[in-house]
Amino acid sequence: MPENYAALHAFLAKCPASLEPILAGELETLGASDIQLLHRAVAFKGDKRLLYAANYQCRTALRILVPLATFTVDSQQDFYDEIKQIRWEDYFTSTETLAINTTLSGSLFTHSHFVSQRTKDAIADRFREKTGERPSVDISDPDFRINIHLFNNEVTVSFDSSGDSLHKRGYHISNAEAPLSEVLAAGMILLSGWMGDSNFVDPMCGSGTLLIEAAMIGMNLPAGYFRENYGFMKWKDFDAKLWEEVKDDGLQQQRSFYHQIIGSDISATNLRSAAANLKQAGLHKDIELRTGPFQEFTPPKPPGIMITNPPYGERIQVDDIIELYRDLGNALKRNFAGYKAWVISADMRALKMIGLRPMKKIPLYNGPLECRYAGYDLYEGSKKAAKQIE
Ligand SMILES: C[S@@+](CC[C@H](N)C(=O)[O-])C[C@H]1O[C@@H](n2cnc3c(N)ncnc32)[C@H](O)[C@@H]1O
Repeated sequence: MPENYAALHAFLAKCPASLEPILAGELETLGASDIQLLHRAVAFKGDKRLLYAANYQCRTALRILVPLATFTVDSQQDFYDEIKQIRWEDYFTSTETLAINTTLSGSLFTHSHFVSQRTKDAIADRFREKTGERPSVDISDPDFRINIHLFNNEVTVSFDSSGDSLHKRGYHISNAEAPLSEVLAAGMILLSGWMGDSNFVDPMCGSGTLLIEAAMIGMNLPAGYFRENYGFMKWKDFDAKLWEEVKDDGLQQQRSFYHQIIGSDISATNLRSAAANLKQAGLHKDIELRTGPFQEFTPPKPPGIMITNPPYGERIQVDDIIELYRDLGNALKRNFAGYKAWVISADMRALKMIGLRPMKKIPLYNGPLECRYAGYDLYEGSKKAAKQIE
């Protein structure tokens, strides 16, 4: 899109907080250069092939932005004038639809919606003056997504190459209560260090997000394997041949997975959602689902990892949340010797009730909820595990 785009160009990948180093690692593997960790984002350089590959393969990216212009402004009028000066007609026509997304902090403007509105006005006015027609806004399914980032009086205008957020992988057709975002689920698995080298279980699996992301990591299926549409496909410079090559490259990296992936849940309704999602992903033969309380769940022999997202009592009401976490701790000590275990929760008091000393505690956000993601090493032999009880 922007000039010199065929050569190295600066890109920005957005991600959830705390996943920046994981995303940077994914981008490095794909061959990105000049990688820089920012807050909830990673800046990097690459060419068009890398842009397509980052969209297709990065499990922890929410969207990949292509910066088009940066400038500083001293007034709201400045902002309008600068936006109007951009040669928008080089990128799209008045018959195409737009959506504008703004993020701002401590700037001349206080409302992101107002900035988006002024951006739309400036683009529409430019088109009207040049062609007599103007593009219209379509928030749900636009041809072009434009991103405005304002930090104090510095403005960055970017095209969003992803379109819909990349957490929409294309397999999640049925929701249980409080499902995890696919990007957060993948990030949790990668933060644990699990790469498909042992068994994987989630005894409170809900709609199965962690199970499916684990299977995709285990088999090294590209994150975008089930997804059909990306923003860059509507761009004037879309290179369909290059896109096919990028997908082939990704698919060739698949590997065999020799361990078990098992999900379980107390709710038959939630398990039906999981089954529907597994079927949609074509992974129903690779993942086993069981019905029942985690208190009675027995995992396969170690080595293995348990990663789970129990109720927090925020979005899901549980009669006694403290009791549930105490039970989880007891189940880990009793049945999971030789396993690693990771639990995400927004309820710090409940998390303590697990009664094991975490080897790691990572701050994460599940949507707006501030969480801790705690990792435990359940050494082989229940006596040793019991010693960890605080
Ligand atoms: C926050 S949801 C998990 C959502 C899941 N990660 C997803 O992406 O869909 C918590 C799940 O724990 C289940 N649950 C609650 N108590 C349980 C218990 N005692 N045994 C097993 N599952 C339980 C609920 O039915 C619910 O599906």
